[in-house]
Amino acid sequence: ASGKGSNFQAIILDIINGRLDAEIKCLIVNNPNCGAIKIAKQYSIPIEIVDHKNHNDRESLDREIINILGEYNIEAIVMAGWMRIVTSKLLNNYPGRVVNLHPSLLPSFKGNKAIKQAIESKVKITGCSVHIVKEEVDSGEILIQAAIEVNQEDNESTLQARIQEQEHKIISTGIALAAIKWRGGK
Ligand code: GAR
Repeated sequence: ASGKGSNFQAIILDIINGRLDAEIKCLIVNNPNCGAIKIAKQYSIPIEIVDHKNHNDRESLDREIINILGEYNIEAIVMAGWMRIVTSKLLNNYPGRVVNLHPSLLPSFKGNKAIKQAIESKVKITGCSVHIVKEEVDSGEILIQAAIEVNQEDNESTLQARIQEQEHKIISTGIALAAIKWRGGK
């Protein structure tokens, strides 16, 4: 995570409430001040800080992440508001096992500032998507989406609030659908 961690928390709550059969081995953050850290502490989840400012390029950041994850014996990675572009270095280590959440109805509004893009293009419907990560940004297989109406009076923050409500509902299903795939199901 890179931000406030509301989706990270939604995953934790789904696990606690028996809606997702999973175990979170650790939280990796690239921002030492992000809200997700507080949530991890609250639930005694190990925290690893990989500050991107200490790295000259994306591959170097990914190498640090790979080294850390090697210690935790993980099955997959969930980017729950991870605001760095990942490279093939990381993806090749976890093929089909990196899941991302994006605040638009992909393939619309890929990349940065998806909610601003949606408002500026005056779409009537936007939403959120959970997808498998591939190297090309926000282009991997879509697992689940939720649609949200855009109102005339919406601004970025009102729309973001409604998108996040939906994200919290679909993120765990997206993770489960991805796991069925990487474990060889249909
Ligand atoms: C989420 O809304 C997610 O869609 C977005 O960051 C937010 C994190 O919120 N991700 C991206 O924009 C990725 N390109 P959170 O920290 O409260 O979960």
